[in-house]
Amino acid sequence: MMKNSQAIYVEDLTKIYTPRRKPPVHAVNGISFTVECGTIFGLLGPNGAGKSTTIKVLTTLTPPTSGKAYVNGFNCIEQPLETRKSLAVVLQQNAFEQFMSVLNNLRTYAQFHHIPRKEANKRITAVLDQFGLYDDRHTHAIDLSGGMRRRLQVAKAFLSGKPVIFLDEATTGLDPINRRTTLQAIQQQASQGTTIILTTHVLDEAEELCDRLVIINEGNIIAEGDVPAIKRLGTPAYSMQLTFKTTGNELREYLKQLNPLHFKFNNTLIDITLQRTHQEILKIIQELNRSYGLVHFEVHSADLEDVFIDLLSQTSEERA
Ligand SMILES: Nc1ncnc2c1ncn2[C@@H]1O[C@H](COP(=O)(O)OP(=O)(O)O)[C@@H](O)[C@H]1O
Ligand SMILES: [Mg+2]
Repeated sequence: MMKNSQAIYVEDLTKIYTPRRKPPVHAVNGISFTVECGTIFGLLGPNGAGKSTTIKVLTTLTPPTSGKAYVNGFNCIEQPLETRKSLAVVLQQNAFEQFMSVLNNLRTYAQFHHIPRKEANKRITAVLDQFGLYDDRHTHAIDLSGGMRRRLQVAKAFLSGKPVIFLDEATTGLDPINRRTTLQAIQQQASQGTTIILTTHVLDEAEELCDRLVIINEGNIIAEGDVPAIKRLGTPAYSMQLTFKTTGNELREYLKQLNPLHFKFNNTLIDITLQRTHQEILKIIQELNRSYGLVHFEVHSADLEDVFIDLLSQTSEERA
């Protein structure tokens, strides 16, 4: 049953595309999840996993083949108008007025959404500041960098004042500065009660932002929970930075045969991620020190990216 505190309710959702003269595509295979109001929820998975399709069903852009989908308490299939009024969406395919300035893009969007002039000006000032777009407010959208354009799009969605916002890969591929600004703005918006659903195939974004997340692969949910819970699902993994006095082929071979998830050999500095228990990691470090002379080492529990690779390889092994 759906609860009042839930901004999104999805039950057994399936979407099969039936392109002409081609076999049907099972894009989403009976997924279920809920999102609490005022939280940031991540829909994660590799390309083709079914993330955009899920967003399109929830934003009424495409009908599901079967299953239930509610946004803000409204049935996406039976109440498309009410559903649409509850949400704003930034799609993967850009859509903005290229030949308008940043400011006019925002003004037009506000008018289109019938936001009263005074309120609109207040919100526009706020998002220009929030997204670091103030200095570029008179720049035509077409003259902005890719990252700035993306920021403008997300700013528009936030300007809408809608309770539920969907961001499809809106944070993917941004340079560090654009990213920081965008991530902070998203967090700020959520703390004011907006529910945010974002998709990404870049795991460290999700790790930083999401209160909860699901990982989907080939239309199926393969893991869900908060970031620590997802991490516990995978085999424990640790990433290490190791510095040696000298290094050589022998050391390289030794490290390789440990089957690292990730391995980078850079003169005397080595980055390596291993799937081992804490105890085993300690033993490996001792052994490395004894045989090769460690100068310095740092150990961190692995980030989501590594767990993700692990989960995906597990599910494809199960299928194989
Ligand atoms: N309009 C469409 N017609 C046919 N197949 C589609 C269509 N849209 C997406 N697909 C297919 O559905 C699957 C899921 O796509 P998508 O939801 O875009 O994944 P993601 O956003 O996770 O990359 C892919 O195999 C994709 O090729
Ligand atoms: Mg997509």
